[in-house]
Amino acid sequence: MKTVERVLSLLELNKDTYLSGEEIAENLGISRNAVWKAVNELRKTGYDIEAVNNKGYKLAQGNDIISKQGIEAYLKKDVSDHIYVFDSLDSTNNKAKELAIKGAEHGSLVVAPVQTGGRGRKDHAFFSPKGGLYMSIILDPKKIPFKKNDIITAYVGISVCDAIERLTGIPVGIKGINDLYTDDKKICGILIEAGSEFDSDTLQWLVAGIGINFDSDIEGFPEDIKRKAASLFKPGRAAISKNELIAGIMTNILSKEYMDEEYVMKEFKERKKD
Ligand code: BTN
Repeated sequence: MKTVERVLSLLELNKDTYLSGEEIAENLGISRNAVWKAVNELRKTGYDIEAVNNKGYKLAQGNDIISKQGIEAYLKKDVSDHIYVFDSLDSTNNKAKELAIKGAEHGSLVVAPVQTGGRGRKDHAFFSPKGGLYMSIILDPKKIPFKKNDIITAYVGISVCDAIERLTGIPVGIKGINDLYTDDKKICGILIEAGSEFDSDTLQWLVAGIGINFDSDIEGFPEDIKRKAASLFKPGRAAISKNELIAGIMTNILSKEYMDEEYVMKEFKERKKD
């Protein structure tokens, strides 16, 4: 890992405390000058880092930059070593499919804060501007106990609903196949894609793509979408970070609790609003 990534990791793990340059330097086995350089580099990429005399450095509240280090800070160890964060992608599902075909592991995650060619179900486009959260998780069908498509769909849907509700307190229901709604407006779309071996009709990989209007500027959305869409938070007014929500969703999807058909169907029925 690069020095700047190691410094970011420490800052993300100690969000609520100041870390002195000396502490960081000692912890990472680098010079204080290298710490100072890394902090400046992070500032250049947009991080707001407080520096207080005799106390040290701390990430200012309100930094909401998606990063591997930021997501990992909220994950229990070893949930996933495979987190790929991009500044922008055409579609996180496209990238995840590429990785899945190359043999990426169960639980690998692709994230981007913007998509230029976001895709929805039935070949629809999925409007994916800044303020949203776009993520795709690669799943190995052998590692999940469900065989039927509708159960897999429900399992991803309720994993996302539960994470949103637990972390934000905002109630979320499911409409249609797997659209998540709050107050009758869509806040999240889910697109699950699969690869299979044609001859033996065996599923090889699944990609669960999740797009959430997080602190999106709904007023700036195209007219036809604006009427039906909502965002969890107003722009720049989020109560949690995107990294925290991404980690919460990952944790649910990969946890044993959600690998139970009875539990999934019960939760799904409770959340289904139409
Ligand atoms: C729908 O509403 O029809 C489903 C939308 C799914 C959007 C997500 S965003 C992350 C992933 N990448 C994509 O291109 N699509 C999914």
